[in-house]
Amino acid sequence: MPHAKVKISRALAPVGICVTLSEQFMGDDNPLGILTNAAVLIKDESIVWVGKQDDVPSNFDLSAADIQDISGQTVFPGFIDAHTHLVFAGSRASEFDLRVQGASYLEILARGGGIQATVRATKESSFDELYDLGIHRLDVLLREGVTTVEAKSGYGLSVEGEIRLLEVIQALNRDHSIDVVPTFLGAHTIPEAYKSRPQDYVRLVIQDMIPEVARRELAEFCDVFCEEGAFDVEASRKILNAARQHGLRLKVHADQLKASGGGSLAADLKATSAEHLEYLPEEIVPRFKEAGTVAVLLPVAAQYLLMQKTPPVKAFLSYDVPVAIATDFNPGSAPCLSLLTSMTIGATLYHVTTDIVIKGVTIHAAKAIGREKKIGRIEKGFQADLSVFPINEYRLVVTSFGGVLPHRVMKRGRWVFVSPNCDPVMAA
Ligand code: NIG
Ligand code: FE
Repeated sequence: MPHAKVKISRALAPVGICVTLSEQFMGDDNPLGILTNAAVLIKDESIVWVGKQDDVPSNFDLSAADIQDISGQTVFPGFIDAHTHLVFAGSRASEFDLRVQGASYLEILARGGGIQATVRATKESSFDELYDLGIHRLDVLLREGVTTVEAKSGYGLSVEGEIRLLEVIQALNRDHSIDVVPTFLGAHTIPEAYKSRPQDYVRLVIQDMIPEVARRELAEFCDVFCEEGAFDVEASRKILNAARQHGLRLKVHADQLKASGGGSLAADLKATSAEHLEYLPEEIVPRFKEAGTVAVLLPVAAQYLLMQKTPPVKAFLSYDVPVAIATDFNPGSAPCLSLLTSMTIGATLYHVTTDIVIKGVTIHAAKAIGREKKIGRIEKGFQADLSVFPINEYRLVVTSFGGVLPHRVMKRGRWVFVSPNCDPVMAA
């Protein structure tokens, strides 16, 4: 009996360069699984086939398909920004001059500035104002080919304030074509009212916030800022254990400003990811591998805070720990809403090749948000999240500070961004 034909809704064919990250094509001599003269076939929301254009099997019915000829161009999996503080109001521009003149991030925080200043500005903003800011920010990310974003709360620091931010994130996920993955970060810092009794705030997070966030299914992950001046290892462990008991997966802001034990805690708890990691002691790195913990690196924050230290990137690579690179978009340490710029800064700061960085915003970023079986690759069965760049040198996405932008972005099989003119500023 002849096989039933599979009706294709969209096809990209021929594709000049297809950066698949597909296991089928990846190997030592082809670490990104790059194909030339490729075809990608899409049915509804998913990729059903990728390979050489000449090898498209005959059981695919392309008669009703929207077919895009993108010869001479490059298609990537939709990029993933695995660490943002997307929803906040106000700016912290006034802190910039203090910092370049020598004040540290933690000193500014201790004086009631920093995160506390953003908590105040956020509290004064309405739900709609925060929502509109969020939509605009997602539009800016989409323009770079980003199709999935992790977003943390953390500028509420009260039960109502944290829930409200997670509700904004939920509305953004519902209304924007970008998927927004919610993380509860009630333990971002000790709010001013609890300064003299931090244990009470830890209790509030554990007893009131986490159960409510979990009951209303407002977050997938729980994160903690484990750092001197925020939450120590003991408090972080209690919070993360409570979150796990309520079904949340774990992330840790770890060893960013000092060696504070956060990375070791993340490995102990088999957290999905540990983030920042500038001061992570190298001997902890093998434990990340055993624990399956992804190292999420945030080069813009380190650059912006004038840090001299970089994470143990060589050790991550030699122990085969997955390394993701993200924006850390936030008003204090990384007011940079450009994943492409973060990629260029990451490559230069860490002395890593373009291939490592591209993996850091695709397959490894997908693992950092628990979606490695669904996004981050152009592979059969994966969600059809793609971006098409008008370049025939794929490395330009890493090497040019956002100087190349996609013509088209697809989310779940639909074109969600099409630009009539985005000629690259770099020779392609
Ligand atoms: O990832 N380190 C803690 N949290 C953020 C900064 C948040 C802020 O300063 O508003 C970070 O760098
Ligand atoms: Fe952060």
